[in-house]
Amino acid sequence: MKSRLDGIGARALGDISSAASAGDLELVRVSVLGKKGALSEILKGIAAVPPQERPAIGALANDWKRKIEEALESRRAQLEGAELEKRLAGEQIDVSAPSRTAHLGALHPVTQATRRMIRIFGRLGFDVATGPEVETEFMNFEAVNIPKDHPARDMQDTFFMGPGVVLRTHTSAVQMRALRARKWPVRILCPGAVFRCDSDATHSPMFHQVEGLWVDRNVSMADLKGTLEFFAREMFGADTKIRFRPSYFPFVEPGAEVDVSCFMCGGKGASGCKVCKGSGWLEILGAGMVHPRLLELAGYDPHEVTGFAFGIGVERTAMLLHSIPDLRLMFQNDVRFLGQF
Ligand code: PHE
Repeated sequence: MKSRLDGIGARALGDISSAASAGDLELVRVSVLGKKGALSEILKGIAAVPPQERPAIGALANDWKRKIEEALESRRAQLEGAELEKRLAGEQIDVSAPSRTAHLGALHPVTQATRRMIRIFGRLGFDVATGPEVETEFMNFEAVNIPKDHPARDMQDTFFMGPGVVLRTHTSAVQMRALRARKWPVRILCPGAVFRCDSDATHSPMFHQVEGLWVDRNVSMADLKGTLEFFAREMFGADTKIRFRPSYFPFVEPGAEVDVSCFMCGGKGASGCKVCKGSGWLEILGAGMVHPRLLELAGYDPHEVTGFAFGIGVERTAMLLHSIPDLRLMFQNDVRFLGQF
């Protein structure tokens, strides 16, 4: 009995030290210490051992059991350690390797230009106000002094959504909403998409405007000039000049188209200048003094308050800023184009 015990124990220790994995170890454990394992079987037969020998055999069996359990434990730790070493060696990280370039998105040039305008006019106290893109014919036209039979309706080819409902053709459609919703002083900036049935290298059926409106006591054309001059310098550079050309918009009187000096040739109108085509000037917006009829319609007294309004083409501005030759590039979502901003 004793020699069988010693045989089982010695074999088990040998098996344990040659086990190559946690799975092998488990097999050894079950074959020796499991319910039907060799050691367990021996202990089951201990009743057949003469009583005076039993304590010695029992002690020997327990001794082997302890030794085997210890050997199992230490071999398991050894195998796990080796496993970890192997993984660590395989997963080496080269901290000096050059990093992969992260492809970050960027804001669209139209968004960038819009935000810059909001920041610039924000410094003069203009709040952002918005209105719906699907607008009533009334707000888009009548409310800004363009009655049904007015020839100015032809200036803007309109998308009709249904009777009396249009896609707004200009952000001036927000003027009446803002005037009605607020009390003077009103000083708002309205950025947004506008829609006209028109498409070529300089026209897109959807484009963006930023409308400005300032209604207060004693607002004058001089304030308009000062405001736009400030804007032009902040947007295009400190040396930028502006010029007003008389023009007609039904919702302003007087009205003007406003040019900025060409930032490419410095306003000299150099014959080779691609940006201003040699004129030295670039048209970027329409503006004027709010027509008294609009103020009356909105419930203001035109003898008490006056106002100015302007509408800036955002794509126009972005194209000029970045010398972008074709408006349609803005809406093709070509990353080779967009990645440049
Ligand atoms: N709404 C005009 C346009 O879309 C621009 C404009 C706005 C002109 C405000 C004068 C005053 O062409």
